[in-house]
Amino acid sequence: MKETKEATVDLKSGKSPKTAADFAKYFQAPSLKDAKQRGKEEIKVHYDFTISEEMREIGKGKRYHVRTYGCQMNEHDSETISGILEQMGYTPSEEIEEADVILFNTCAIRENAEDKVFGELGHMKRLKHNNPNLILGVCGCMSQEEKVVNKILKSYQQVDLIFGTHNIHRLPELLRDAMFSKEMVIEVWSKEGDIVENMPKLREGNTKAWVNIMYGCDKFCTYCIVPYTRGKERSRRPEDVIAEVRDLARQGFKEIMLLGQNVNAYGKDFEDIKYGFGDLLDEVRKIDIPRVRFTTSHPRDFDDHLIEVLSHGGNLVEQIHLPVQSGSSEVLKRMARKYTREHYLELVRKIKAAIPNVSLSSDIIVGFPGETDEQFEETISLVEEVRYDFAYTFIYSPREGTPAAVMEDNVPMEVKKARLHRLNEVLARIGLEQNKKLEGKTLEVLVEGVSRTNEEVLAGRTRTNKLVHFKGDSSLIGQYVDVHITDAKTWTLHGEIATKIEV
Ligand code: SAH
Ligand code: SF4
Ligand code: F3S
Repeated sequence: MKETKEATVDLKSGKSPKTAADFAKYFQAPSLKDAKQRGKEEIKVHYDFTISEEMREIGKGKRYHVRTYGCQMNEHDSETISGILEQMGYTPSEEIEEADVILFNTCAIRENAEDKVFGELGHMKRLKHNNPNLILGVCGCMSQEEKVVNKILKSYQQVDLIFGTHNIHRLPELLRDAMFSKEMVIEVWSKEGDIVENMPKLREGNTKAWVNIMYGCDKFCTYCIVPYTRGKERSRRPEDVIAEVRDLARQGFKEIMLLGQNVNAYGKDFEDIKYGFGDLLDEVRKIDIPRVRFTTSHPRDFDDHLIEVLSHGGNLVEQIHLPVQSGSSEVLKRMARKYTREHYLELVRKIKAAIPNVSLSSDIIVGFPGETDEQFEETISLVEEVRYDFAYTFIYSPREGTPAAVMEDNVPMEVKKARLHRLNEVLARIGLEQNKKLEGKTLEVLVEGVSRTNEEVLAGRTRTNKLVHFKGDSSLIGQYVDVHITDAKTWTLHGEIATKIEV
């Protein structure tokens, strides 16, 4: 692992860096160009993460607040960040106003995600003014972008610390540097090939847990920033993943979600063993944990062995998030998704044949540069054919540095919005039709909490991840119950408790 230069040395020379490129001379500032490189260097796994005695004193009597944007990967990173802060002696603060350390764990996937963060950062000026000792930090995917770091340097002087997605394990030292430095502390590694095990995690709740199986992405879909912000594909060793899942089972967790940007590429980077995602699931399914999910599956690497393993069922739930992005082979080609409409539909056919009652969900982008009406119609017809239970839908957002950002975009915004609206209508109609088929059925539900709108109503999820509302006692939270479905709505099911199941 790279060593970082001492954070304050060069700045003391009196020169004040103004851009991320200037900063690179002093610190390690992000570079999208470097982030694009995929070197051959071996992936090292570090098992020696510790927080020194000295660092464990830093947060005594102080409070922290982490605000998370973006995907589950980021949510899980925030659990690690919180775990580290707690080991440094910090305690959590519900109210951001009362915190001594505020960290924004950011997302770069679309422009509106970034705009939201800049808006909130602006509001932090007031808090910084009230409490000059407050440390305000920015981490996550936005910190990996030069453009963002430049903008923060120029217009958000209230920020004290910027660190990247590969630098989380360095948080104790970076926080200490930020406390003692007058300048903004920046440490963002753009090209990283390592895995750091054994970082503490403060998990939210004790029912469901996330488990990283791999980091990074090598797919380079032309619209997507993730391969630049998360680095190259690196798989955790199977024994480390399995040990973590076993430990969660022992602790009584009821459901785990295996995480990766492209879980089907798991193991492709191992040089010493031939071991893929199917092999990993085949071992995980034998562990005594009632439900196992995973996200996200890239259709390209979804192989027959994986389908065969999933067909065993058991704790491997019959729900697969299989983002298609577009129903047009031409658009898919320009997105560099590396599959065609026909290949995707064939995969869906195989999955449906092998896994009865499988529930499929998707991510779909509308208004990709050059998308014609006919090509959009192909997306609609694919949705009709697959019959997704739900899908996340997005208007294409250009990301600087990605190939699609320089493609000519002749689709007017009104057209993109109209396409999104139409797509969402079709998805809602199909979602309701799918749910209606469940009326009268009894389904196993993991109770997650009370409903947001009515405290007497419990909320839980089926194996297929559908939200179910039903009357029941809050003592059932964290348990499995059988629920008889009486009424199906577009995105929720309503029912009555049939029996409580011991799992
Ligand atoms: N690794 C996952 C996706 C992670 S990003 C996968 O490949 O399935 C989640 C979703 O955001 C993507 O599936 C895509 O639909 C959407 N997305 C990514 N980049 C985008 C962009 N530039 N504009 C709009 N949507 C985008
Ligand atoms: Fe982005 Fe494609 Fe990688 Fe998913 S597979 S993270 S969409 S580049
Ligand atoms: Fe966003 Fe980074 Fe996740 S860009 S979607 S937080 S990997």
